[in-house]
Amino acid sequence: MPDQAEELRRLARIHLKSAKVIAIASGKGGVGKTNLSVNLSIALALMKKTVTMLDFDLGLANADLLFNAVPRYNLSHVLSGKTALRNALVSPYPGVKLLPGTSGMEELADLPENDQQKLFNLLESIQRDSDFIIIDTSAGVSKNVINFAACADEIIIITTPEPTAMIDAYAAIKLIAKNPEHGNIRIVINMAANKIEAEKISSGIIQVCTRFLNVYVEKLGYILADSSVSAAVKKKNPFVLQYPDSYASACVMQIAKRIILENEQNSSPVESGFFKKLFGFFRKSG
Ligand SMILES: Nc1ncnc2c1ncn2[C@@H]1O[C@H](COP(=O)(O)OP(=O)(O)O)[C@@H](O)[C@H]1O
Ligand SMILES: [Mg+2]
Repeated sequence: MPDQAEELRRLARIHLKSAKVIAIASGKGGVGKTNLSVNLSIALALMKKTVTMLDFDLGLANADLLFNAVPRYNLSHVLSGKTALRNALVSPYPGVKLLPGTSGMEELADLPENDQQKLFNLLESIQRDSDFIIIDTSAGVSKNVINFAACADEIIIITTPEPTAMIDAYAAIKLIAKNPEHGNIRIVINMAANKIEAEKISSGIIQVCTRFLNVYVEKLGYILADSSVSAAVKKKNPFVLQYPDSYASACVMQIAKRIILENEQNSSPVESGFFKKLFGFFRKSG
């Protein structure tokens, strides 16, 4: 790896245009990370933003399925040098690019140093190409996944109203908070019965995090339990496109609107800390 100062100077040069990096994480699996990643990417594109989505669920990469994309290459081909990144990116919808993931790969921090450097360069080159980078991550409170997610500008922790999912969300937040440079932590309640339930649960999580972890967590939104979600999954078409009038679509559009608004309100040329932090992440784990 080049020396750290040189690397940071190189990073400083590319900060003129930098995408906002949003990682979507959870404690428990099956709570809706991939559906949120995919539909939020499309929702942002419907609002005229450009998005690159990275499928970094190295355990169970399946974002391509939800987009009905049949990718020829994925992350592993890029890392092995079999193909260039531009050949691996697919465009399942105008304004959205997807780097398909690969299952059964080692965890990010366990990658050989050479692959880490490649991944780092790859992410860096993507950051200049879009307004947002959305990263779908693996479930669970694996330290590596959580530390990787903590590098993002925003970490969306998604949970359902089930106590098991909520406790796992809390455990994930606790781990993220151990990283002193973590990005903003936001909560999305998925599969909520109604707005009141969602508000109650997110307020509860926020309170517990403030009281016991001294960590500031903010609400980002909620998604109602809606049979359109699984119906759209079966049709292999994101629900915001397949069922634009569904409750779930309205909720995701609301989240996208909020993200764009907040991004515009903080539109001072503040650089994204993602790459600096990511560099530190690889250094520490290497
Ligand atoms: N808002 C929702 N309403 C109803 N079902 C949902 C909702 N969100 C997700 N699901 C269902 O939950 C399952 C898991 O979602 P997925 O996005 O794959 O979770 P994860 O990526 O966290 O494992 C999907 O099959 C989907 O049908
Ligand atoms: Mg998933």
